[in-house]
Amino acid sequence: MPRYAFVNGAYLPHEDAAVHIEDRGFQFADGVYEVIACIHGNLADERGHYERLERSLRELGMGMPMQREAIQLIVRELLRRNRLQNAIVYMQVTRGAAKREFPFPKNVRQSLVITTRPFRFDDNPKIKTGIKAVTVPDMRWKRRDIKTVALLPQVLAKQKAVEQGANEAWMVDDQGFITEGSSSNAWIVTREGVLVTRKATTDILRGVTRTALDKIGRELQIRIEERSFRPEEVYEAAEAFVSAATALVTPVVEIDGHKIGDGKPGKVTLRLYEEYRAYVAGLRGEQVTWTA
Ligand code: PDD
Repeated sequence: MPRYAFVNGAYLPHEDAAVHIEDRGFQFADGVYEVIACIHGNLADERGHYERLERSLRELGMGMPMQREAIQLIVRELLRRNRLQNAIVYMQVTRGAAKREFPFPKNVRQSLVITTRPFRFDDNPKIKTGIKAVTVPDMRWKRRDIKTVALLPQVLAKQKAVEQGANEAWMVDDQGFITEGSSSNAWIVTREGVLVTRKATTDILRGVTRTALDKIGRELQIRIEERSFRPEEVYEAAEAFVSAATALVTPVVEIDGHKIGDGKPGKVTLRLYEEYRAYVAGLRGEQVTWTA
């Protein structure tokens, strides 16, 4: 069965799907993206991801390449053609293909690419065992709140993690505080049971999963603090985890060689994982509004 991708108006076999060599996404990383999990046919936090896509585009002086509802239909059609119920949906919008000049080109059609790939959310071994993380310097630009495809610092960070036998890199700013994971938001649970994650400013990407977890945490009456924390606080924490569309809520059991808590996925983390899965399945009410 050929896998299909959606590229600029057409459903194409994945191996033939391509964008132009003058695409500004390719030449300047002049584009943004979103990743949405599809779990048992439910698109996790679909609304929030489109809200953030629209904002990222707006911040770079772009609009949506087509109406949100039209993209939503295309995503469903692509999942249907690829016969996927459990998948990761990737969508990318760039300013389009034009002669290589730095200023914005005029009258150019934006590129829209959507791909899907199978992903097994059930019985994910990483949830059971947890993952390892390492800290690395955060080398990114100053608008990390925009989900651009300019991901080279994150690629280098993740590669460093992998080379050290870890799965994720937690990036550290010039003041010594953790910003976030290379492709996830970073959380700890203190020994007092307080859930801590960094405040969402331009220093981090405000995760859609993070937004939902904040709501779920409050409903479960867990104390939540939005503040910065250092690697040393993580070494002493009871639990740690990452959140992202792909990771959902994945326990972090070791960082920089320090065991976190008893070195096993923590209770609060696993509870949040289960509650987030229930939320995606529609069992915890409406999906959150990311723009709020
Ligand atoms: N990344 N922070 C960064 C730097 C990210 O790249 C991501 C997600 C997140 C979490 O955001 P959300 O909960 O909305 O997925 C935080 C995606 C999954 C990726 O690049 O593959």
